[in-house]
Amino acid sequence: MKRAGAGRDVRPPAFVYRRSENRSERRIKRGVKGALELCCERLPLEDLAARYGTPLYVYSAAMIRARVAAFARAFDSIPHTLCYSVKANSTLAILRLIAEEGAGFDVVSGGELRRVLRVNRKAASKVVFSGVGKAAAEMELAVGAGILLFNVESASELRLLAATATRLKKQAVVAVRVNPDVSAKTHPYISTGLHQHKFGVPISEAPGLYAQAAKQAFLKVAGVSVHIGSQITNVGSFREALERVADLVRVLREQGHDIRYLDAGGGLGISYEGTQASFEKQIAAYAKAVMAPLRGLKLHLLLEPGRSIVGAAGVLLTRVLYRKTNHKKRFLIVDAAMNDLLRPSLYGAHHEIVPVRGGTRETEIADVVGPICETGDFFARDRKLRVVSEGDLLAILDAGAYGSVLGSNYNTRGRAAEVLVKNAKATVIRRRESWQDQIRLEKVWARTN
Ligand code: LLP
Repeated sequence: MKRAGAGRDVRPPAFVYRRSENRSERRIKRGVKGALELCCERLPLEDLAARYGTPLYVYSAAMIRARVAAFARAFDSIPHTLCYSVKANSTLAILRLIAEEGAGFDVVSGGELRRVLRVNRKAASKVVFSGVGKAAAEMELAVGAGILLFNVESASELRLLAATATRLKKQAVVAVRVNPDVSAKTHPYISTGLHQHKFGVPISEAPGLYAQAAKQAFLKVAGVSVHIGSQITNVGSFREALERVADLVRVLREQGHDIRYLDAGGGLGISYEGTQASFEKQIAAYAKAVMAPLRGLKLHLLLEPGRSIVGAAGVLLTRVLYRKTNHKKRFLIVDAAMNDLLRPSLYGAHHEIVPVRGGTRETEIADVVGPICETGDFFARDRKLRVVSEGDLLAILDAGAYGSVLGSNYNTRGRAAEVLVKNAKATVIRRRESWQDQIRLEKVWARTN
């Protein structure tokens, strides 16, 4: 058994090459008997693609569960609640699976909150609401639902929240999200913890907001929150941010505020290139960096991981439509595109791409590109890949986080279907979007009087 991509984390075994078994007549005739093929848990991805078409997202429930469990183990020495960051993958069945593991949720919109309540009506008590631009209607929904914590990001937002809670005569529990001015050393688009970023309130201004909040009858001050960015692999940044936040907690307590919760945000990176330590080691280092500055403070820790829970648990399956060579440059044109997985186009992100049939060892240098009419529509550039033919299936790895959620209909392409593999069974958890789905909100004629 071999994990896809050399030197990668091998536990839990979500996507592995296996010798094919239970070959159908048809497949034996095609000469694929006994070939090495990539599977999700025990199911051959080739079979899933044949059944559900491509492009297709495939997720492993076992891996998602294992990641939630790894967080629980790493943080078991401190009272904590894992609030999975819904934005990473908000497909209902994924949320349901994570809720079943006992986790709560981090939401950033009324829509995300509705998704959470849709999978578990009682989940609100474990929901934190983050984001710089909460609208009045979203606040109303969240106050009404009785969520665990609002992470407030400005004085104006605090005023609106106080007004909303007062009007509804229902208490809103608040933390101020602080901006610790710490560099996350990650991609600039997903770095959030410096003063130049729109997020949070400078630590020096936070006590003023807490004083205002404490005066409000329907606000209850209960925590401090921080989130410095995403895909962070240098755990020193977390430690630095938490040290500053721990100092603030001491100051606020001296001022008489009852600070019980410390929301440490999300941001733990994963090894897209398979070059880092195993996830168990990574999460242990992360837990140490987060918990060390909080020693002795008797806080309830909230964690908002997204990517580290679902990222490695998903692949995007795509078929090679055409091979072509422009002058000397080789292209593999596949049936997935930037509308299905935007990360390479938007952040220059690296995703390993492997053939689903593990046969040939021969390699070539090629670009893997989609059918969209933009040069930015690529999954890999000048990448050394195993040689594949037209019609072959490729798996784009680590696509479980910020994959389907960033999908769009650009070029009037329907969004990909999504399949969850759970207990050796595959279920379509989001069907492929049809052309009718895409046009259902539109009118052909614009009426003019
Ligand atoms: N909490 C807050 C307040 C956040 O803004 C985020 C992510 C998270 C938690 C979850 O962070 P994670 O554990 O997943 O790193 N689309 C980008 C990532 C954007 C992250 C936005 N905020 C990407 O594909 O890399």
